[in-house]
Amino acid sequence: MSRRPPTTYWDYIKVEQLLGLQTGIDGDESKLSNEEVLFIVVHQVDELWFKLVIRELVAVRDLLAAPFVPEQSLSDAVRRVRRAELLVRKVADHFEVMETLTTRDYLAFRDKLSPASGFQSAQMREIEVLLGLEASERIPLGGEKSYLDALRNHDGTPSPAYERVVARIEDRPTLKEAVQAWLLRTPIGGVPHDHPEAEARLGAFVDGYIEAYRAYVGDLEAQARVDARTAEDAERLARRYRAEADGVERHLRGLDVSEEERTRVVRIRAAVIFLESYRELPLLAWPRELVDGLVALEQACVVFRQRHARMVERIIGRRTGTGGSAGVAYLDETALRYRVFGELWAARTMLLPRHRLPDVVDATYYDFAGGQ
Ligand code: HEM
Repeated sequence: MSRRPPTTYWDYIKVEQLLGLQTGIDGDESKLSNEEVLFIVVHQVDELWFKLVIRELVAVRDLLAAPFVPEQSLSDAVRRVRRAELLVRKVADHFEVMETLTTRDYLAFRDKLSPASGFQSAQMREIEVLLGLEASERIPLGGEKSYLDALRNHDGTPSPAYERVVARIEDRPTLKEAVQAWLLRTPIGGVPHDHPEAEARLGAFVDGYIEAYRAYVGDLEAQARVDARTAEDAERLARRYRAEADGVERHLRGLDVSEEERTRVVRIRAAVIFLESYRELPLLAWPRELVDGLVALEQACVVFRQRHARMVERIIGRRTGTGGSAGVAYLDETALRYRVFGELWAARTMLLPRHRLPDVVDATYYDFAGGQ
């Protein structure tokens, strides 16, 4: 066997190359303040973390996109989603380091950046695209340019960042699509999704769940009438509970979507409620963990956006961003509006306490041997 030469830390980690990358736009680190080097390093570290996030999301997407997802793959997917979530949380933690810059520190070199901006972070866009954020859901930056055009070179030619994001857009399915396809195959009511009785069992589950939810809020409403200080208070609460129950019915029957979409959407929504409700059944334990992990991942992304906005507000106030957006107002809007896994979040509003759940039909199907 031929022997390889001894490995060194510096060759393996590429330390010298890495330490040579903080030279700024003029290519001379010795001319930069500590604050500017810190600014560059934090962005570089974050981009590396984004790289890891993308790798994990691609792996999870590929696992779920398979026509059949065995239990082992599911536990692997959960582990990777949890890792991606942790990475996003760590990136958000780095804003604390950035906050050691005062407004004056930053203004001393800010002009050099313009019109560059985190808005041109191709990897952030890749993460959003990979998760399943649609172009139509994006908030315009403020100018007429689309988020993709902002990644072009100044002369309009495609940059490596542009190419990278376009390739990601073409790389389907998105994680959201893969998750939905997987959810569609959830056996509801003790039969596989393609069983002749699947639709009838799904319908029975939906009817039973809505009935149980109405009974639950009926009891809450009765208690509210006892607890309320005034008749108006009682009425207000009662109306709220009834609206909640109506919301559950609208959601689970897909009354808010077009008829063409309804069959598919109803099955996906019912699957999420079913998995979350009967998580103790052995075959549902990992799927439920995955759903929980995806919500945690999306929560980490929202927290990242909110944390970034607060850091930006502290350092530059509410002035226009170097990328030309409304700055903090734009960033806050992205935090409020960008949600990919709407169905998974919605289920949180609609879950029932365990003792109020209807019994599962054919529960033994969900034992480890039962579903084989
Ligand atoms: C002093 C530090 C920073 C300031 C003042 C700042 C400011 C801003 C502003 C104002 C925007 C809105 C677009 C624009 O008009 O430019 C933006 C976007 C963005 N920034 Fe920062 N940023 C800072 C540091 C960071 C860091 C460390 C990251 C980590 C990767 C980051 C990532 C992003 C991303 C991904 C966007 C695009 C957000 C979106 O379009 O959804 N920023 N930043």
